[in-house]
Amino acid sequence: MKIDTLNDIVSLYARWGNVRYSEAITQTEHAVQCARLAERDSAGPSLVLAALLHDIGHLVDLDLKDGHEITDVDTSHETTGGRVLSGVMPVSVRNPIVLHVKAKRWLCSQQKGYFDSLSPASINSLRLQGGPYSDEEAERFSALPGFDDAIALRLWDDIGKIPDWGGDISEFEEILSHYFELLDARATP
Ligand SMILES: [Fe+2]
Repeated sequence: MKIDTLNDIVSLYARWGNVRYSEAITQTEHAVQCARLAERDSAGPSLVLAALLHDIGHLVDLDLKDGHEITDVDTSHETTGGRVLSGVMPVSVRNPIVLHVKAKRWLCSQQKGYFDSLSPASINSLRLQGGPYSDEEAERFSALPGFDDAIALRLWDDIGKIPDWGGDISEFEEILSHYFELLDARATP
């Protein structure tokens, strides 16, 4: 699957956004809450969009498996997310998405108390994703361009699981439309 239009994103969330992200909220609510948190922290538009779309790879996986969730292997949803958005979103949006799992591995390794704050589901996925970084791996990761954005996104990801805070993708339609208009403008000769 590849995302070509804004409607591709809207219809993907319409199909699978109601799947539970956790007991408390759905995939769509999680996405919107993360984007709200990014806005609250005065993130720029590309990072807000990265927060909104950071788990789009999970929705693509659901689409490919007709709604069947895979929890016993790492599907590299962050790589899938970066790939499906490669034709429509700039690196500034895709890079934090691609790095947000690595950011968790870095935080588990380098930030005291972070691991203990993870939910059982997150600890399970961490194990599948390779576990906490060694100090050497952590140093290499922190030298990557986009490190700060990846860590910021990861921290919103951890918070954006709030019951009764709702959320619908239409809340960010304006910013999404803006990026697709930029794309159209570039494509116009
Ligand atoms: Fe997430």
